[in-house]
Amino acid sequence: MILSRVAVALLLSSFCSAAVHHLFVGTFSTHAIYALEFDDETYSLTLAANITTPSEHPWINLSHDRKSLYTASDSAYGYFNVVNSTSVTYNASVPLESNCSSTRAIFITSSKVEPYTVYGIPFGDCGTVIPADFSSITQNYTFTSGSSGVHGLALLPNSTYLYAADDSDDKIWTFGVDIATGELTDIGVLDAPAEGNNPRHLTVHPNGEYLFVILEEANEVAQYSIDGQTHQPVYFNVSYSLLPPDSDSSTHWADEVQVSANATYLWATTRSRETNETGYLSVFSLNGNGSIANQLFVTPTTTSGGTSNAVSPASFADEFAAITDTSVGFVEIWQLLDDASNATAVAHIDLVDGGCCANAVWYD
Ligand SMILES: *[C@@H]1O[C@H](CO)[C@@H](O)[C@H](O)[C@H]1NC(C)=O
Ligand SMILES: *[C@@H]1O[C@H](CO)[C@@H](O)[C@H](O)[C@H]1NC(C)=O
Ligand SMILES: *[C@@H]1O[C@H](CO)[C@@H](O)[C@H](O)[C@H]1NC(C)=O
Ligand SMILES: *[C@@H]1O[C@H](CO)[C@@H](O)[C@H](O)[C@H]1NC(C)=O
Ligand SMILES: *[C@@H]1O[C@H](CO)[C@@H](O)[C@H](O)[C@H]1NC(C)=O
Ligand SMILES: *[C@@H]1O[C@H](CO)[C@@H](O)[C@H](O)[C@H]1NC(C)=O
Ligand SMILES: *[C@@H]1O[C@H](CO)[C@@H](O)[C@H](O)[C@H]1NC(C)=O
Ligand SMILES: *[C@@H]1O[C@H](CO)[C@@H](O)[C@H](O)[C@H]1NC(C)=O
Ligand SMILES: *[C@@H]1O[C@H](CO)[C@@H](O)[C@H](O)[C@H]1NC(C)=O
Ligand SMILES: *[C@@H]1O[C@H](CO)[C@@H](O)[C@H](O)[C@H]1NC(C)=O
Ligand SMILES: *[C@@H]1O[C@H](CO)[C@@H](O)[C@H](O)[C@H]1NC(C)=O
Ligand SMILES: *[C@@H]1O[C@H](CO)[C@@H](O)[C@H](O)[C@H]1NC(C)=O
Repeated sequence: MILSRVAVALLLSSFCSAAVHHLFVGTFSTHAIYALEFDDETYSLTLAANITTPSEHPWINLSHDRKSLYTASDSAYGYFNVVNSTSVTYNASVPLESNCSSTRAIFITSSKVEPYTVYGIPFGDCGTVIPADFSSITQNYTFTSGSSGVHGLALLPNSTYLYAADDSDDKIWTFGVDIATGELTDIGVLDAPAEGNNPRHLTVHPNGEYLFVILEEANEVAQYSIDGQTHQPVYFNVSYSLLPPDSDSSTHWADEVQVSANATYLWATTRSRETNETGYLSVFSLNGNGSIANQLFVTPTTTSGGTSNAVSPASFADEFAAITDTSVGFVEIWQLLDDASNATAVAHIDLVDGGCCANAVWYD
């Protein structure tokens, strides 16, 4: 049987449940959230909405059900209701703990498990535990032993433990989570592989057995096993450079690491401190048990990335990811080649407002 082009197109489209996907993007210093539309057949990337907000958003996170958008802002954590794929409305905010060494919230994440607690940190020595509807503050806590610059958080998939990457003090913290209230208890702290590595962001494999940590100054991703008894990370000397061989590490600072939707790949990025040099994207294949199998490539990004180059793997397919840039102000969609030996930018949109683009989250 010979199928017509139309029949083939219909057949293909029945495999792709949605060709058009949506993202929200935050900014470092302007009062906007952008809603973007990406078509995975035509590769068009367009601005669907420019939403004016009460503050800037160095980090944004969608709730498990995509009905809430949480933001880290200047001196506050914000809560927006997601109206639809291109619209969010401001609902509430809570302040940072007043004793904190920093007034600038820098990271926020949320639990996928009831009661869907929200966790925020500034680039400082404290953190805030917030209920999903921002009706109050559950807990203010301080990182003990003089920590001064925690930068990223990641939960175990069942939200029983929370890990924190301590950039300024070269540590990884482990907290136990009270299942009923979301409150945290400090249960341990581990030194980074070496002094000056600067753990920045981290992510837990969906099987809960591996933790991947961005070492900002070392420009590496480090793999930790999560101990099945203590649930603390254990380092077995497995780390990979996120720069090509013979690169000058001092001009780069690694940014972000995230697992792809089906846990086939690990995506990681570095930025350049010099505007005349590029950042780099590296993708790893993962074993069935969650550990890194191979580093597939290290390839230059379009620009230095500015202070961003944050990579967000797509929620709908393992081969796509969004990357943000602040040196110009843009978002790109990158796609792996069929054999995953490299990746290229397949779509680009400039969002030049003086503060864009911090991180992108995929709505659908
Ligand atoms: C939001 O945070 C949760 C918990 O860490 C994480 O699993 C999820 O990937 C984040 N979602 C987005 C869209 O950033
Ligand atoms: C999303 O909500 C906004 C604001 O109410 C509305 O203007 C827009 O038409 C809606 N879009 C869709 C696709 O429903
Ligand atoms: C805030 O969100 C809650 C749901 O968590 C909703 O009931 C309430 O109406 C919203 N308030 C505003 C001012 O949007
Ligand atoms: C947390 O700190 C904020 C700001 O200082 C304060 O308004 C709030 O009452 C505190 N909440 C708790 C539970 O400690
Ligand atoms: C904040 O400082 C006050 C006064 O020193 C202290 O009583 C309080 O326990 C501190 N709060 C936190 C969450 O560290
Ligand atoms: C949560 O996940 C961890 C790691 O997979 C596991 O050791 C622990 O037993 C789980 N806890 C609950 C309450 O499911
Ligand atoms: C990791 O490497 C260090 C330094 O080379 C060595 O002392 C240590 O025994 C190694 N640890 C493991 C678990 O292999
Ligand atoms: C980029 O600029 C810096 C400072 O001006 C210079 O030292 C460096 O050699 C330049 N790098 C490249 C790749 O041209
Ligand atoms: C995970 O799987 C890889 C590939 O099969 C294997 O080499 C490695 O030993 C496994 N790790 C553990 C802890 O079993
Ligand atoms: C993940 O794998 C399942 C089973 O192979 C497939 O149905 C699903 O479409 C995949 N999802 C993504 C996001 O690739
Ligand atoms: C990978 O793709 C990039 C463009 O995205 C290109 O600059 C680079 O040369 C490619 N690398 C290899 C090894 O083919
Ligand atoms: C979004 O709207 C604001 C306010 O009108 C404007 O200043 C900004 O330039 C717009 N952003 C983009 C990318 O067009």
